[in-house]
Amino acid sequence: MSVGKPLPHDSAPLHVTGQARYVDDIPVPAGTLHLCFGLSTVARGRITAMDLSAVRAAPGVVAVLTADDLPFANDVSPSVHDEPLLSDGTVHYVGQPVFLVVADSHLHARRAARLGRIDYAEETPVLTIEAALEADSHFEDGPVTWARGDVEAALASAPRTIEGRIEIGGQEHFYLEGQAALALPGEDGDMVVHSSTQHPTEIQHKVADALGVPMHMVRVETRRMGGGFGGKESQGNALAVACAVAARATGRACKMRYDRDDDMVITGKRHEFRIDYRAGFNDQGRLTGVAFQHFTRAGWAQDLTLPVADRAMLHSDNAYFLPAARIESHRLRTNTQSATAFRGFGGPQGMVGIERVMDHIAHVLGRDPLQVRQANYYDAAQSKGAGTGQRYGGPHSPAVAQARTTTPYGMEVTDFLLHEMTEALAERSDYAARRLAVRDWNAANPILKRGLALTPVKFGISFTLTHLNQAGALVHVYQDGSIHLNHGGTEMGQGLNQKVAQVAASAFGVGLQDVRITATDTGKVPNTSATAASSGSDLNGMAVQDACEKIKARIAGHLAETHQTTPGAVRFSDGQVHVGDHVMGFADAVQSAYSARISLSATGFYKTPDITWDRARGQGRPFFYFAQGAAITEVAVDTLTGENRILRVDILHDAGASLNPAIDIGQIEGGYVQGTGWLTMEELVWDDAGRLRTHAPSTYKIPATSDTPPVFNVDLWDQPNPAATIYRSKAVGEPPLMLGISTLMALSDAVAACGPGYPALDAPATPERVLAAIARVRDEP
Ligand code: MTE
Ligand code: MOS
Repeated sequence: MSVGKPLPHDSAPLHVTGQARYVDDIPVPAGTLHLCFGLSTVARGRITAMDLSAVRAAPGVVAVLTADDLPFANDVSPSVHDEPLLSDGTVHYVGQPVFLVVADSHLHARRAARLGRIDYAEETPVLTIEAALEADSHFEDGPVTWARGDVEAALASAPRTIEGRIEIGGQEHFYLEGQAALALPGEDGDMVVHSSTQHPTEIQHKVADALGVPMHMVRVETRRMGGGFGGKESQGNALAVACAVAARATGRACKMRYDRDDDMVITGKRHEFRIDYRAGFNDQGRLTGVAFQHFTRAGWAQDLTLPVADRAMLHSDNAYFLPAARIESHRLRTNTQSATAFRGFGGPQGMVGIERVMDHIAHVLGRDPLQVRQANYYDAAQSKGAGTGQRYGGPHSPAVAQARTTTPYGMEVTDFLLHEMTEALAERSDYAARRLAVRDWNAANPILKRGLALTPVKFGISFTLTHLNQAGALVHVYQDGSIHLNHGGTEMGQGLNQKVAQVAASAFGVGLQDVRITATDTGKVPNTSATAASSGSDLNGMAVQDACEKIKARIAGHLAETHQTTPGAVRFSDGQVHVGDHVMGFADAVQSAYSARISLSATGFYKTPDITWDRARGQGRPFFYFAQGAAITEVAVDTLTGENRILRVDILHDAGASLNPAIDIGQIEGGYVQGTGWLTMEELVWDDAGRLRTHAPSTYKIPATSDTPPVFNVDLWDQPNPAATIYRSKAVGEPPLMLGISTLMALSDAVAACGPGYPALDAPATPERVLAAIARVRDEP
């Protein structure tokens, strides 16, 4: 069976030889036009005059469009229709598209786009969290608050308390392939759009609205993305709609891709957060109550901010039982790019909040932060060491209700693995001895300090918007026994297609060479959700299996009839079909079914069971299960410069019974590095006029190959998921990013060795911030 095998990514040879086709590589028809936006140069204001004559006169320009030229919806928002494709007369950030240039080449379009003359009545932009609070600039009616118990009473009676604040910067997705789209006008108003998107159905929907046509007039195709990381859930809408509108206006194919600088200036990024906390605890460091205030800078449009901020709230507990908790979330509207989905979708920010609290408590008590973390872990509801078979969905004992197993939002944590995983990881990475070695090192070395931290991850799997937890598939078996399938998910490098192909091959008992998956296509599988929330393989794997089982049942029924037996006697394995004692090749069985006029094509469908969520009350079971993991990071800090590096990383991560250990380990390594990059080196800087100054790799620093930790041990926990997922696997796309929090905490540990104070290290912990924190801990009496 191919499920469970460590097979390489199906496109790996194409990726490394440069043959993998992205939107920009698709051969285009003669006469294809190229698009570029003219951008706002002010952060907030009203357009008083616009002179585009120089743009129109520039070489190669075919058309220039403004909002007035858009016949139907001028909207590319994924949520509340607050994001015009082209400015409606007001501008809300530096980089907002104001007009659209259509030219005969990419370069001509870009050159012309710079020639617009626009006058603005400028207003004072709201750029920061503090400014937004002062201006009372927010989405929704006000802050959202979810609570359990009486936090103020818990804090008032707590033996000890702390309070503090952490600032957490945003993050640029830096997908290798920038945003891109290509629209091909067809006959009778049809439009085909190729888009680098995680969400083809949304592209179809927005294009249809912009063209004023039903969705059946628009077909969207996505073969693959060169990375999405959440940045292509909604941010591709503008390019696809622009291409479709221009293609309709000119009757010619239209293509658009952002250059890196434009991509960084125009599109949304990870939400920046400030988290204020107050916590009460006992002398063992066990929490009695915690109050969080989340302040997030959402940018100019709502986009996905509400669910992102919700997920941050839902991960304020991470792996810890919070006896009393209040989480207040402010979604602040600012004159910056509209912050959007980014791997973890708010979860990472919420987790950094509680990890900071754990670190701070340990410092105050002079305890090993790992002990404090373990003292606060949820109780393991399941009996330890039970054989794998018995762990599935057994009834929960009534005693569990009294135990420390309920999240602040009322969901029972029934599969908490982190006690065992933490112990296993600490042991195999020699945590205790290295903790002492770090102490000795720091006592002996005044300049170079070392730090060590273990942080856990418990990440909820499912879309919190319940109806999104559905997927479809389309499977064809051809007469020669080869299998062609499509599903609603998109491939962005995460290996979804390979996992899904493994599921199909395993279902039919054939080899992977017999299964082919082609581009995601709204004409084949309709009404799909974004490939997001790490649920791609959970949802689409199940939908594909459903379709395969339908076809198998038909073939089995036919063979049972011809061999005078029952369908139950028919088995598919090793490229063969067994009918009782009779064995035939899969292709022969297929041929026989075809000749008997049996349909060999089926759709499949899946919806996640057992989830409920009442967003207004902040109560329910929003997640089907939790993916878990833990990481230990050791760092060294140069206390003269603040420069630092990772010395060693050990990770133990839970991907359930892995569908593909090679791909899962790749996701874990990549996620860890991306999380570490976010919290240590990737820094976004806007100036006082709201201009993003870090809009290229020259000024925005992402981890390079040379930043890979010299010792990087990654192991899979590899136990079946108690929840009934596809082959008992677990989602793995986002959770490992949050393992990178261990790097921030290791840096905090190293800085704490410099003096008596608490480092209160903000993120990203750049050398400058590390140096400032060192000064703080030394100064503190
Ligand atoms: N891995 C690669 N190589 N490229 C990506 O763009 N996106 C991440 C994660 N891993 C991403 C990735 C994000 S944000 C999500 S939600 C999941 O993959 C989506 O895919 P999945 O649901 O199939 O895991
Ligand atoms: Mo991932 S942020 O859910 O696309």
